[in-house]
Amino acid sequence: MQYETARKISERLKREAGEMPDTAIILGSGLGRFAAEIQQEYAVNYSEIEGFPVSTVAGHAGRLIFGSIAGKRIIAMQGRFHLYEGYTPEEVTLPERVFQLLKVKNLIVTNAAGGVNPDFKPGDLVMISDHIGLFCPSVLWGKNEERFGERFPSMSEVYSKSLQDIALAAACNEKIELKRGVYCYCKGPMYETPSEVRMLSALGADCVGMSTVPEAIAAVHGGMSVLGISCITNMAAGISGEPISHSEVMETGAAVGEKFSRLIKAIVARL
Ligand code: HPA
Repeated sequence: MQYETARKISERLKREAGEMPDTAIILGSGLGRFAAEIQQEYAVNYSEIEGFPVSTVAGHAGRLIFGSIAGKRIIAMQGRFHLYEGYTPEEVTLPERVFQLLKVKNLIVTNAAGGVNPDFKPGDLVMISDHIGLFCPSVLWGKNEERFGERFPSMSEVYSKSLQDIALAAACNEKIELKRGVYCYCKGPMYETPSEVRMLSALGADCVGMSTVPEAIAAVHGGMSVLGISCITNMAAGISGEPISHSEVMETGAAVGEKFSRLIKAIVARL
């Protein structure tokens, strides 16, 4: 079912959007500026793509953009689907399946996350070295679709070491500090309790968020190389003693937007 939907969408995009880029980017909160800098060649609203989930968030920019930035052609997802919105795992990972059928090689996933590691601070950019996805419903449950990937895929290197090297070199060249850390998925949409955050810290998490893991797992299942970058928008519950609010998350995301966008552009330029 998901295969047929993804196949139809990919056929349409091949017809309408021309030559396919090697890299797709999921733009998390805070990367609005990046989207504005793409020289667009073709764009389509999610609502106009048959089979794409309809966004539950009012005013949410749901658009797939084909174009170039830093001299490289890319596909950008402006707006993503989260499991907490009530989408099924198949709906949440439909874009990665479409990218796979378009023969995209690299997926860059960005997000906003809460800092669990006390060495992190709001505004930091963190390269995801690995994730803890045990709290995430598996997106590979059910009959395996062999045309997408194998039944028991390895998750020993979800985040490509060679893409991490490229990201570090790009950050160094731009004089942007890029920290490294383990991202832990939590279901949301409520933020975590302080006790949950203490537990995540004991488990080895450096930051926490409500996205990325479903997308990264589907992309790896499909043979893509994944790079993940988190923007620490707040310290996770109980770490700083301050209550977390969605407006704080959005404000920090916006304040870091220029640096975040410059980093992703510098990475793309090196791919
Ligand atoms: N927890 C979970 N998701 C988040 C957070 C957080 O503290 N901040 C931004 N996204």
